[in-house]
Amino acid sequence: MKVCIIGASGKLGQYMVQHALDRGYEVVGVCRAKSVHKLDRFGDRITVVPGRTDDRDVIRRAVAGCDGVLTVLVPFGVNDYSSGTAQAVLDHAEPDARLVFSCGWHITHDGQDVYPLSLRLLLPVFTWLGRLVRFVDVDDQVRACRLIFDSDRRWTVVRGSDLEEGESQGLPLWARHVGDPVLASNRTRRTDFALFMVSALTDDSLVGVAPAIVGRQTASAQAFAAA
Ligand SMILES: NC(=O)c1ccc[n+]([C@@H]2O[C@H](COP(=O)([O-])OP(=O)(O)OC[C@H]3O[C@@H](n4cnc5c(N)ncnc54)[C@H](OP(=O)(O)O)[C@@H]3O)[C@@H](O)[C@H]2O)c1
Repeated sequence: MKVCIIGASGKLGQYMVQHALDRGYEVVGVCRAKSVHKLDRFGDRITVVPGRTDDRDVIRRAVAGCDGVLTVLVPFGVNDYSSGTAQAVLDHAEPDARLVFSCGWHITHDGQDVYPLSLRLLLPVFTWLGRLVRFVDVDDQVRACRLIFDSDRRWTVVRGSDLEEGESQGLPLWARHVGDPVLASNRTRRTDFALFMVSALTDDSLVGVAPAIVGRQTASAQAFAAA
């Protein structure tokens, strides 16, 4: 399998590169030119296409011939970086490619998520402040996901909980909606978020689904498993 990892130089991206290589996949990575050095440790085991992830020509060249595309959606800046990235992937990926995107729990697919009070209070403040200082545009990540949900592509949008570093706990558990008790611990190891993204490439039961994930060894996941 040949996979393209868009946003390969970030923390999540680098974990995905490693998981993909561990599976014997051929890997193409896209990252900003100034970040190419972050991928040095992978040497000639991966092909790097430098450029902004919302550059349509960069994405067209990178995804050519790929069976799967893993995209880190980040809402940096106020120039539609997330939605530009998503649209470029949707437009240029091979017709039958599996497309897997990352985001956070704040994204809702069907409006059935039940959010903790802390998130309901903090998100509007963070959204407003992020735009005020022109650092992040949370609403653009929402628009990006709407483009994906409305497409006829073979997509999965993986919604991460709060993240932490550390050894793998195995493949995260997931639920269709935030508010499901299995997710209550709201914590996932970043390496396992990446593992879930890479595993989704070959899991057709996740096509057209926006799973919200949680670490396999968290208290809420273990309580669910015990029940
Ligand atoms: N952080 C969390 O707690 C959390 C929680 C839930 C979900 N998520 C989701 O997890 C994914 C990864 O998030 P992360 O926080 O762990 O970050 P990350 O993996 O380190 O990725 C950050 C990405 O953003 C790029 N980037 C940084 N500054 C940028 C800029 N000014 N303009 C354009 N691109 C820029 C980085 O590229 P360079 O390498 O070029 O800098 C990198 O590809 C995202 O989809 C996020 O929504 C995160």
